[in-house]
Amino acid sequence: MMENAIKYIQEKLNNHKPETLIILGSGLGDFGEEIENPISIDYHEIPSWPQSTVSGHKGRLIAGLLEGKEVLCMQGRFHLYEGYHPSVIKEVLCVFKALGIKNMIVTNAAGSLKKEIAPGEIMLIEDHINFSGQNPLVGKNDEKYGPRFPVMAEAYNLDFRTRMKDIAAKEKITLHQGTYLMVLGPNFETAAEIRAFQVLGATAVGMSTVPEVLSAVYCGIKVLGLSVITNYGTGLVQEFHGHSETLQQANRASANLSKLIHQFVKEL
Ligand code: HPA
Repeated sequence: MMENAIKYIQEKLNNHKPETLIILGSGLGDFGEEIENPISIDYHEIPSWPQSTVSGHKGRLIAGLLEGKEVLCMQGRFHLYEGYHPSVIKEVLCVFKALGIKNMIVTNAAGSLKKEIAPGEIMLIEDHINFSGQNPLVGKNDEKYGPRFPVMAEAYNLDFRTRMKDIAAKEKITLHQGTYLMVLGPNFETAAEIRAFQVLGATAVGMSTVPEVLSAVYCGIKVLGLSVITNYGTGLVQEFHGHSETLQQANRASANLSKLIHQFVKEL
């Protein structure tokens, strides 16, 4: 798939050379409207590109300017629970690498594992636990893109994290920090699973991001990760509302998330 997709997107970009990729999570798709002079590329027009199926996710790339910097936005991502082969995500990230992407800002919706981290708040991802049982890097390795055994000691770039904390402090936006644990989904967790994940040292739980981060680090793209907390994990509070609450809380946090991303890109 790779060569056709690279060629197709390159032609559409028409001399633009974005260095920063922004991946928008559940309910955060509206951020795409903030890109200036947008060039929109629907996923289904890109040769051999995987297609997104979840409600609340638009499937397209948007290239354009944010704070005067060239960015490329993924509006709609590929979740493993949709049934994609995990290596699809590696291929997509390698396409972006080939197009000149150097940095990735990845966002997601996540459930909180801590009482003191409330829905509507944002968490900077410091590290992750891959609890999905899957890995996009399994299979034959192409050394042209990355090593067989990539190192994940600093998967979430330390300099990026420091900058983001400074930005949040200046903007007076509450920014928690912690470990994101990925489950495969698509079901929300049982209360026993949430208790187990707390013991494992996770701070938030979600169904995405880890495959993209593994793939990005593999091919040498620097990563910043942000979770929008949309709900408490099952059992932490009395009621659990599911996907509708996720979308609602993601919308609530989106103004703050947008400010953080704008400022971060501006200073890149
Ligand atoms: N669990 C898993 N994924 C999620 C959650 C959750 O509680 N909230 C948003 N995405």
